[in-house]
Amino acid sequence: MSDQFSASASLGKSCGVEFITSVFNNSQLPPPDYPEIAFAGRSNVGKSSLINKLVNRRGLVKVSARPGKTQSLNFFLVEDNLYLVDLPGYGFAKVPKKVKNDWHGMISSYLEKRESLRCVVVIVDLRHGVKEQDLELVTWLQMINLPILMVYTKADKLKRGQRQQNAMTLDSGFGVDRSERVIFSSKTGEGMSDLLAALDRYLDIS
Ligand code: GTP
Ligand code: MG
Repeated sequence: MSDQFSASASLGKSCGVEFITSVFNNSQLPPPDYPEIAFAGRSNVGKSSLINKLVNRRGLVKVSARPGKTQSLNFFLVEDNLYLVDLPGYGFAKVPKKVKNDWHGMISSYLEKRESLRCVVVIVDLRHGVKEQDLELVTWLQMINLPILMVYTKADKLKRGQRQQNAMTLDSGFGVDRSERVIFSSKTGEGMSDLLAALDRYLDIS
């Protein structure tokens, strides 16, 4: 197990990555043998696309225009040293209540208890304002002292001037500092070097 995996040395370009497992309940979690980064956000915000971009594999994680594509915790092992975990999206109205509650229970218990979890990347759409469920998640993660990195994605869909303006609105809504967030696009790769530098900071904490 490595405590000093360098995101900037391995991610953002072709790297060794393998799908390990899909987890539908916490008894199926793989042993916490590697540092771990989880990716959370509303359905369809672009979590799976961001992971694909990070490992430079277009089709590794399934992406869909239909919200609710990812329904389990999906573990990807990078360079035999780091787990990336794609979480199911929240805020998808069509999911039956029972399933929604099960998801919520499983994910919150995973986030709360997973000892190898170094950081939760919370992904929001740069075009949108602060959504209640995102704020709830961020507030709860802060309360349980999990390090958070905000990623404001789909930047390619906005004009340059508008990006900074929207980012500042989101910063104040979530109560995060500029240094705790990254403006990103999975389509163009904008913000990749900022994202890798931020992940390195979290992975350095032994
Ligand atoms: P769920 O698994 O349903 O929760 O969705 P997700 O958050 O994993 O989103 P996914 O990566 O499947 O992307 C949803 C849609 O947004 C797809 O059509 C993607 O192509 C598109 N998308 C994701 N990121 C970007 C981006 O940075 N720019 C643009 N233009 N489209 C994006
Ligand atoms: Mg997905």
